[in-house]
Amino acid sequence: MNIVEQVKNRSIATVDDLKGKKVIVRIDVNTSLGENGTVDPGEDWRILKSYRTIEYLLEREACVILISHIGRDPEESLKPVYEYMKEHFTLGFIPHWDAQVLEHTIENMQHGSVVMLENVRQFDEEKNNNLDYLNNVIAMADYYVNDAFSVSHRNHASVSAITEMLPSYFGLQFADEVTHVAKALDPSKKSVLLLGGAKFGTKIDLLEKLLPQIEYALVGGALANVFLDARGIDVGASFKDDVDISHMVENPKIVLPIDAVDQHGDIISVDEVRKEDMILDIGHATEKVFEKIIDQAEIVVWNGPMGKYEDGYVSGSVAMADALSKSKAFSVTGGGDTATVILEEDLVDDFDFISTGGGAMLDFMVDGTLPAIDALLKNNS
Ligand code: ADP
Ligand code: 3PG
Ligand code: MG
Repeated sequence: MNIVEQVKNRSIATVDDLKGKKVIVRIDVNTSLGENGTVDPGEDWRILKSYRTIEYLLEREACVILISHIGRDPEESLKPVYEYMKEHFTLGFIPHWDAQVLEHTIENMQHGSVVMLENVRQFDEEKNNNLDYLNNVIAMADYYVNDAFSVSHRNHASVSAITEMLPSYFGLQFADEVTHVAKALDPSKKSVLLLGGAKFGTKIDLLEKLLPQIEYALVGGALANVFLDARGIDVGASFKDDVDISHMVENPKIVLPIDAVDQHGDIISVDEVRKEDMILDIGHATEKVFEKIIDQAEIVVWNGPMGKYEDGYVSGSVAMADALSKSKAFSVTGGGDTATVILEEDLVDDFDFISTGGGAMLDFMVDGTLPAIDALLKNNS
């Protein structure tokens, strides 16, 4: 059985009687907060994606116990996310992980109610895959559901070790993620990888893995600078990650920018970059080259913005989203910054699927699975 079937076969939708059952649901509502410390409506997409499984369980009168992390600082609180979500659900919040409060609240939950616990990363054990901090909650629960695809590349307690302790299932969003991401890897289709962004170190494995099966890799963003430099083109003061791509540099499937937007907003040929110049976006001629290839593709996987979008260098990314919306290709995208630019520029409708995963999507594409998927399946077969 392939991984998609295995995940679907272990979906929470396969459980018949959920009425009154206490279900721990691991969601990933990790969201960057606005300046006033609240959830910006433009940043709520991961939160919204968690609603489907929660609603599914509430409709079946389960008692839903939500757990998630937020940020990387153990001091960060999920309270703003709770404030946001309680506009949608009648939601309780347990601000401290106090054993007595937890026990009292969870024991007395009404059928069809939902409560959220505080940031699981306040505990060192979470990252060490150590369940000690969760044991009292687990002891009161009947089931565990992982609906947090985007953190399932981590071997953390709330997605991994917990699956040893309770009958465990995948959530509805999780199954959707693996279905779409796996579909984008179909080797029988004419596929194109559109790769941009800055952190080449996190993407090189994907490029290496997909090169044999794809038609082209269109490389933009600061990643292109690494290739241009390796091909002997001076990229001046442009940003480039320090990775060794010498084994790929002459690969004819890799298509690089022929022009660029510089620090003055001018379009220049990549041959005329001076030592003080910075390449900050792909130029219009490059957009045309990339668009033509996208137009012929059956599948396009996109990770990484084409330019330094947060400083306004966004036209290359917008042009690519536009090309995808016009093309018949099945398009899947993911990556924290990629998703941000898509949301900020209102390009969501241009894609068939936007993964909630950044690192998780990349790792799933490279490995065909994730540590937390393996743990759940291994412990619940
Ligand atoms: P993602 O989160 O989508 O995987 P990355 O984290 O790899 O993407 O890269 C996103 C970052 O890449 C953004 O901060 C963006 O400004 C930067 N970037 C893209 N193109 C360039 C460029 N030409 N020069 C400098 N930074 C760039
Ligand atoms: C993400 O934002 O990609 C996930 O929530 C995982 O967060 P992490 O990279 O801090 O583990
Ligand atoms: Mg990023």
